[in-house]
Amino acid sequence: MAEPRIVTVTGAAGNIGYALLFRIASGQLFGPDVPVKLHLLEIPQAVKAAEGTAMELDDCAFPTLAGVEIFDDVNRAFQGTNVAYLVGAMPRRAGMERADLLEANAGIFGPQGKAINDGAADDVRVLVVGNPANTNATIAQNAAPDVPASRFTAMMRLDHNRAVAQLAHKTGAANADIKDVVVWGNHSADQYPDVSFATVAGKPATELVDEEWLSSYYRPTVAKRGAAIIEARGASSAASAANAAIDHMYSWIHGTPAGEWVTAGVMSDGTHYGVPAGLNFGFPVTSDGGEWQVVDGLEISDATRAGIDHNIKALQEEYDAVKELGFIK
Ligand code: NAD
Ligand code: LMR
Repeated sequence: MAEPRIVTVTGAAGNIGYALLFRIASGQLFGPDVPVKLHLLEIPQAVKAAEGTAMELDDCAFPTLAGVEIFDDVNRAFQGTNVAYLVGAMPRRAGMERADLLEANAGIFGPQGKAINDGAADDVRVLVVGNPANTNATIAQNAAPDVPASRFTAMMRLDHNRAVAQLAHKTGAANADIKDVVVWGNHSADQYPDVSFATVAGKPATELVDEEWLSSYYRPTVAKRGAAIIEARGASSAASAANAAIDHMYSWIHGTPAGEWVTAGVMSDGTHYGVPAGLNFGFPVTSDGGEWQVVDGLEISDATRAGIDHNIKALQEEYDAVKELGFIK
């Protein structure tokens, strides 16, 4: 057996945590031969609930689970962490302005970024799930100057999976036959789901669907799916979010199949598609098992350009608001 990998999950007693932890513990992230130690971080009021989840993890007797520890101390939770899932966040409450939400979350993701900087393993990989995910990732990354910026990512994989599924439904294809959709930008209703480069069983998607369907149904359905799930379930997506969180980290660690990309929110270095450096942005990416690489050189249509620009503006506004509050230097 290999050395145990340490996976820290924040918001571990929440809905996504409950759907995510058992999949990591069962070996679905690293494989059946790699033991995993779970670090569960919660706020003090939710530690008891996290203890209940830990009891259930115990009761599964997973061969790959090498231990579970529960923390309400951010610094201890990230000691030696190889993989960090930052799930816990401050939800938007009635009457809360966007600036209030950004400020409350900056107070969570700044200290978590610093704790990762100070205590995590050299190979740490971070996925921010808690909303607003892209800007929370930017905040955490800014608090971690000693960790390569490329290790801080935000979850756009749920949007990507939604974009695959909706195209599969429309064309009657299997999900597995859909390749190279991308969701540019922000994990919010501003996002731009794009089938310009997608294929369906090897055929260009643009030969199978028309612009009228894309603009009136596809793009708004994918972009507003989170809100539709909340409306239907009375709660935010949890199992599909946990599934995407596994998919994202699995692709990063094990690599993407040759010639295929996925969508991830990665820190822009200013050299791709006109996205300013310092923003966390949904791009088409591949992984060779080490770092994410943005897929460059795609021929961008006027419509996609407008979609990318709209997202640059939205994310720049979030960035500026957080900077004004003093959370980004
Ligand atoms: P939830 O309310 O069920 O659970 C959140 C948990 O986080 C709670 O147990 C809470 O105690 C904990 N928490 C709050 N502050 C914390 C802190 N400072 N440290 C550690 N834990 C803390 O929420 P959920 O359904 O699990 O969703 C979590 C987040 O994920 C939300 O922000 C949600 O909007 C977001 N989300 C993102 C995506 C995506 O695709 N990026 C998809 C679905 C949900
Ligand atoms: C989702 O896309 O399902 C969530 O981000 C929605 C939300 O606001 O929690």
